[in-house]
Amino acid sequence: MTKRVAILISGGGSNMVKLVESMTGDHPGRPCLVLANSADAGGLQKAKNLGVPTAVVDHRPFKGDRPAFEAALQDTLAEHKPDIICLAGFMRVLTAGFVTPWQGRMLNIHPSLLPKYRGLHTHARALEAGDTEHGCTVHEVTPALDDGPILGQARVPIRPGDTPDILAARVLGQEHKLYPQVLARFAAGDRTTIMLK
Ligand code: GAR
Repeated sequence: MTKRVAILISGGGSNMVKLVESMTGDHPGRPCLVLANSADAGGLQKAKNLGVPTAVVDHRPFKGDRPAFEAALQDTLAEHKPDIICLAGFMRVLTAGFVTPWQGRMLNIHPSLLPKYRGLHTHARALEAGDTEHGCTVHEVTPALDDGPILGQARVPIRPGDTPDILAARVLGQEHKLYPQVLARFAAGDRTTIMLK
């Protein structure tokens, strides 16, 4: 049975676009919703252009009341009946109250080779550490931040003269390949790890 996929974004949504574009033909998933936590998220217009329903649940009126924000998120998601949630540059920390009921059905992409560099500023941290390689990870979401079973990773070299922006762009190119491949497998019930070079 085709899986309904909701994609949560906060920004430009380039990963979201790649995920939506991948869900055609015999892909086991179809996009049912693109949800942003801000009406300013550039990805919303891209989703509309792709013909995907959109919604906004702005976190700001909740003034730090995460359970109330997450209840609103859950209500909006429920209207679209997703089977799978993909976090794709969704920059709000989700608590166990939201994550636990979705565990095993929610994926995230993170711009580092987890377990290295959980949290923010991953590219700058990899450069500061003198790493020779960096990359991205798709993992199942668990209540611990940027944790959970790893479903796929892609590596990129760090080159002399790299800045955080240059490195981020190199990693993003790999994110666009990795996330659709992992989602296609995951939606088919296959949790085998994908490693891209
Ligand atoms: C991506 O690099 C993604 O890995 C990162 O935000 C960017 C979103 O770009 N996510 C995180 O940092 C999550 N902690 P996009 O909006 O163009 O897909």
